[in-house]
Amino acid sequence: MKVVLATHNRHKVEEIKSILSDLPIELFSLDNFSEIGEIIEDGSTLEENARKKAQTVFQMTGLLSLADDTGLEVEALGGRPGVYSARYSGENATYQQNNEKLLQEMRHFPPDKRLAKFRCVISIIGDGIDEIAVGEVPGRILNEVRGKNGFGYDPLFVPDGYEMSYAEMNSDLKNRLSHRARALEEAKKILKKLIRNSGGFPPTSLPVL
Ligand code: IMP
Repeated sequence: MKVVLATHNRHKVEEIKSILSDLPIELFSLDNFSEIGEIIEDGSTLEENARKKAQTVFQMTGLLSLADDTGLEVEALGGRPGVYSARYSGENATYQQNNEKLLQEMRHFPPDKRLAKFRCVISIIGDGIDEIAVGEVPGRILNEVRGKNGFGYDPLFVPDGYEMSYAEMNSDLKNRLSHRARALEEAKKILKKLIRNSGGFPPTSLPVL
């Protein structure tokens, strides 16, 4: 089975490849389909954006397509920045500008009002297939940036059960517990089901004669 990942992001491609490495699938990314230009993420929810990307790639390639969209949802801000996480402080905003805006908006909130969650939505679209996998990690927003690893809001987010921010963790740990890893584990279950239904799993063992 061939699956196209609706992204050019090498980092995401590697992470997804490693999590899905034990499935009998051949993975491609948008780098293999240069005719597919940028897909505008103009939906009002993470689900809409993920489905739009997967749908576009499926229409253009005819292959099973997988697309993700992620947002940081802060309770005290009514779920913002959410679907607007990448451009929270404006189009082409840097990670640092977005973090500064978040700190500014959260400056009057005490520790118990700083709850947030990362939410990653993966859409899988194919011929007669339209599936959604979701991964969430609850946590809290710090009062200042901490840590140098990762990207985006990592220096401001501490997942529940940990004292370190995502940016203070090494990439192995973050990638094991992250919202994206959780969504990918769900996506993997869906892909296994699709492979099984298409008769695509090779026999795991031969009968002993
Ligand atoms: P995307 O849907 O993966 O492109 O993510 C949208 C935005 O969410 C990014 O531009 C980041 O600001 C933020 N984001 C996504 N994943 C992470 C993460 O793992 N850590 C920190 N920020 C993230």
